[in-house]
Amino acid sequence: MRTVHKPLPHDAARLHVTGEAVYVDDIPLPANTLHLAFGLSTVAHGDILALDLDEVRQAEGVVAVLTASGLPAANDVSPAAHDEPLLAIDKVHFVGQPVFLVAAESHLQARRAAALGRISYRQLPSILSIEDALAADSQLEPPLNYRKGNPEQILGKAPHIVSGRIGIGGQEHFYLEGQVALAVPLEGGDMLIHSSSQHPTEIQHKVAEAIGRPMHAVRTEVRRMGGGFGGKESQGNAPACACAVMAMLTGSACKMRYDRDDDMAITGKRHDAAIRYRAGFDDDGRIQAVEYIQDIRCGWSRDLSLPVADRAMLHADNCYNLPAVSITSTRLRTNTQSATAFRGFGGPQGMLGCERVLDHIAFTLGKDPAEVRKVNFYAPQNTPRPDRTFYDMPVEDCVIDDIIEELMESCGYAERRAEIRAWNRERENLRRGIALSPVKFGISFTLTHLNQAGALVHVYQDGSIHINHGGTEMGQGLFIKVAQVAAEAFGQPMEAVKITATDTGKVPNTSPTAASSGSDLNGMAVKRACDEITGRLVDLLASLHQVKPAEVKFRNGGFEVGGGSYSFGETIKLAYMNRVSLSATGFYATPKVIWDRIAGKGRPFFYFAYGAAVSEVVIDTLTGENRILRADILHDVGKSLNPAIDIGQIEGGYVQGAGWLTTEELVWNADGKLMTHAPSTYKIPACSDRPREFNIRLWEQGRNREHTVYRSKAVGEPPLMLGISAFLALSDAVAACGDGSVYPHLDAPATPERILAAVARQQGVRA
Ligand code: MTE
Ligand code: MOS
Repeated sequence: MRTVHKPLPHDAARLHVTGEAVYVDDIPLPANTLHLAFGLSTVAHGDILALDLDEVRQAEGVVAVLTASGLPAANDVSPAAHDEPLLAIDKVHFVGQPVFLVAAESHLQARRAAALGRISYRQLPSILSIEDALAADSQLEPPLNYRKGNPEQILGKAPHIVSGRIGIGGQEHFYLEGQVALAVPLEGGDMLIHSSSQHPTEIQHKVAEAIGRPMHAVRTEVRRMGGGFGGKESQGNAPACACAVMAMLTGSACKMRYDRDDDMAITGKRHDAAIRYRAGFDDDGRIQAVEYIQDIRCGWSRDLSLPVADRAMLHADNCYNLPAVSITSTRLRTNTQSATAFRGFGGPQGMLGCERVLDHIAFTLGKDPAEVRKVNFYAPQNTPRPDRTFYDMPVEDCVIDDIIEELMESCGYAERRAEIRAWNRERENLRRGIALSPVKFGISFTLTHLNQAGALVHVYQDGSIHINHGGTEMGQGLFIKVAQVAAEAFGQPMEAVKITATDTGKVPNTSPTAASSGSDLNGMAVKRACDEITGRLVDLLASLHQVKPAEVKFRNGGFEVGGGSYSFGETIKLAYMNRVSLSATGFYATPKVIWDRIAGKGRPFFYFAYGAAVSEVVIDTLTGENRILRADILHDVGKSLNPAIDIGQIEGGYVQGAGWLTTEELVWNADGKLMTHAPSTYKIPACSDRPREFNIRLWEQGRNREHTVYRSKAVGEPPLMLGISAFLALSDAVAACGDGSVYPHLDAPATPERILAAVARQQGVRA
């Protein structure tokens, strides 16, 4: 019986659609639970002169009001830098920063009361945009430069040069379940936290600091999130700490659930960026050298911005062997929400910059952009001396050539491209465009110590199995995959395995479920725990039969020894009667990774995940309106642990990536207030925005050459970057409005307004 590699449905799919699945907001509340809301800053930068909270205190249902000076212990919710207070101290740094905290008898009472705070400020000059920050030299750390060879010199002599700039907007996570926490005070001052978090250990850690207790006094439980997408790696700290502190001070359970508008105003988003480039290349489009300047807008505090910006640098090569390169990255501090992790973690921005360069080169030479990409790919796997990236990692597993070839063939790229060109010549007001883009994404946390995971597995007397690990479930299907691994390891049916909530009391010191490494890390840790128990069963049978352990065979969930056989259930009973432990921990640390982020040298990734997409779009040149007509995807997930889940991840990733680059536009006004703070003004893709024809296939030859769990590959983030092909297809359609002499300038997101302006520029060139 095999349970891995099977397309099983998500374990909670039924519960999700029937509404039975329990989220934090569904947990029955203890008596007298209080509900919390933050009072938020209304200025982007200022000194707090006075706080008049009398009306807040007198409002109906209000039980307590807290400011920074009333906090019992640490006032910090940052992941590491200690630069982000839970409640503002003397100064505010963005519109939406929490300044005071209200506890009331109901959610609405808390929110109504919070709106009554009167805060007077001395306004200070604010730095909002990338341009403002560059002009003011406002940076979180000095710029970082990674380089290889001497690009400046080569660019001086290159046969052809292109240069340009692309502005790249941020992205709101728009998890369907907003940030939420529930703190339940226990005896002796201990605290139980229910949180919607990708990082239960960090919640535990920050809550312990906030209430001034050791980590052993705090337990975090996360059953599931209604989406995280990186937005719940660190952004859950504030509501969890607020609840814990208020629960400690009042003795009541406390719950905090951000209203959607507050959620969007308070929490960090994807980093917006501007990438400037200069590239030199030969007549075939082969790149000789590239210079990038990546300006990354980080918002007001560090949060995870440094590793995000690092990852943008590390994906500035995408699939291409760049003989000489210089990447300068600035980490700009602005008076806006502190930008945070978002699916791809900086990789998408770096990769989009790179794909723009490839497109620009092809346009300049009048060549097919797919052909120009091919001549620049890293050498395929099994080449005797693999190419090395600019950060000196050998690319030993490059499969992009095979993927591209198969995809171009299966989607009829060449014929369709020719057909589209002909179609465009005959149309007045419509233009179609097509583009292919590949993805190579590095798998592992670049913060090397995070590449570890633990697991706890129990087998009960009746042979049923309870698994627990440090990973969290946010819809991505981690729990079913890990359960498949456990069922496989024991040779038992899926029904034998119980999936349980992530719990810091069961598996400690966990890493966030992030960097797409959830199944690689936790799958392996659980497998090791299962194998440990199986090993004990083998030893027991060997000793009972007076044979060597190697003579006991474990097959299809049963044991064979000395001519006889035992079922799994029989063996478990036997083990219990013989006083053998049926519980084990498992631990896994990713091998091979080593990384010096300042020098920019080493092996930050265990391996790479690859994929490619071809998107076809149509634009209306009178309005800028557009549609994705068709997308074809071929993606490498190694030997898939669960093809159904993986296809879902690819589908969602593409749509989320295309949304980022097309309809999802964040707008701050001149005072630094986010104006797009609800679905009425911020447009995520709807069902109707999916490509009309959407063909997704897993690459059948996929098999991880590294020893990952059942040779699978991570899938969570890489497919988001397949959405880059939709942006490039729009750019191709815009280019079709001109005479071919000027590469269209187009910033992301390519909203109808931007497309219309770009079309007008192309038509101007033609005229
Ligand atoms: N898929 C769903 N449905 N919901 C999510 O929140 N998050 C993404 C990705 N896929 C996400 C998702 C992000 S940002 C990451 S890092 C991975 O899932 C995390 O899970 P994994 O490591 O188990 O792939
Ligand atoms: Mo994903 S951005 O690594 O949580």
